[in-house]
Amino acid sequence: MAAADHIHSAEDARRLARRRLPWMVFDYIDGAAGRETGAARGRAALDALTLRPRILRDVSARSLAATLFGAPAARPFGIAPMGMCNLAAPGADLMLARLAARHSVPHGVSTVASTPLERILEVAEGNAWFQLYFSGDGSGTFRLVERARVAGYRTLVLTVDVPEVGRRPRELRHGFKMPFRLGPRQVLDFALHPRWSLSTLAAGKPQMANFGVDGFTFDRTESRARATFDTLRRLREAWPGKLVVKGVLDVEDALTLRDAGVDAIQVSSHGARQLESAPTPIDVLPAMRAALGPDMPLFYDSGLRSGEDALKALAQGADFTFFGRILQFAIAAGGEAGLNRLWDVLSEEMSIAMAQCGLTDLSRPSAAAPA
Ligand SMILES: Cc1cc2nc3c(=O)[nH]c(=O)nc-3n(C[C@H](O)[C@H](O)[C@H](O)COP(=O)(O)O)c2cc1C
Repeated sequence: MAAADHIHSAEDARRLARRRLPWMVFDYIDGAAGRETGAARGRAALDALTLRPRILRDVSARSLAATLFGAPAARPFGIAPMGMCNLAAPGADLMLARLAARHSVPHGVSTVASTPLERILEVAEGNAWFQLYFSGDGSGTFRLVERARVAGYRTLVLTVDVPEVGRRPRELRHGFKMPFRLGPRQVLDFALHPRWSLSTLAAGKPQMANFGVDGFTFDRTESRARATFDTLRRLREAWPGKLVVKGVLDVEDALTLRDAGVDAIQVSSHGARQLESAPTPIDVLPAMRAALGPDMPLFYDSGLRSGEDALKALAQGADFTFFGRILQFAIAAGGEAGLNRLWDVLSEEMSIAMAQCGLTDLSRPSAAAPA
């Protein structure tokens, strides 16, 4: 049986990925900030949240369709931006891009993606959003924005929760570095995971593909601490398309962003990879929705592990959701077939939960919130 056939849940994908990936790569993807108490708190909050079961409604025909900035999306969930996805398996970025094209959902393309941003947009057939990290004095950042615009990107996602990269001890213990470096410890790790190592070596060492061309350089650990609301306003002026700000957990900040003219706010704790003691993102959603009103687009990511989890985020006030690391685990576990399989699992989980909550579509997901 192919590996993909063994994926019945995100946890299956994670378990298989853990076997196949070098420890260093698994812990880079799976790890969270500090003692990982933020990740645990986030999981516990999602588990504690209930949905409202409703009965005896005809729910035989159901649709997972959503609308995103006025355009149709086949699912109310997309792909969160993640750096260096090709570490999960060669070609991972383009597997995600093809998935985005097939379902008309956004593929978040990281500043530190392992495939050039132009190529991902092409393969995603336009269903890609460029994610921006402000870094250094900002001059390179604004050139990257211009490059994304010229490439044809219409949505920019500014990630604001990384003024400094969080300390993730699991990743640090393995000496994880970008650009990728090989020491004796890594050689042993790779030797013990030959399947990953052989395919990754054959494909060439994954690189941060948006840099090293036309003088673009990037240091992952370079401070991003100099960005301010003024930087945001400059970006708003420079960017003609939609502007999403990702990594917002404070209502007061969200209101300032709205007043500065951003098009959407993304509640996220960066998958618990940044401030360990940040408020639990799923708990922030209802207050955020109440403060912003019903019309401001509000997105959510962090900690979602099933279609039912994503329905909970919609019920709490999000208009759209994003999955992160579990998609990389599915790729590591079973390649593109594994990714497509997990996507079907997530879709089915959501569809079944909708039926059990008496919903046939997602026009009013708040009906699934606990009474
Ligand atoms: C391996 C990895 C790399 C990531 N790289 C980025 C990145 O480059 N830019 C960014 O905005 N967010 C990045 N994120 C955060 C994701 O966009 C998203 O917020 C998070 O993965 C959602 O949580 P989840 O993984 O629990 O679903 C990364 C997350 C992971 C796991």
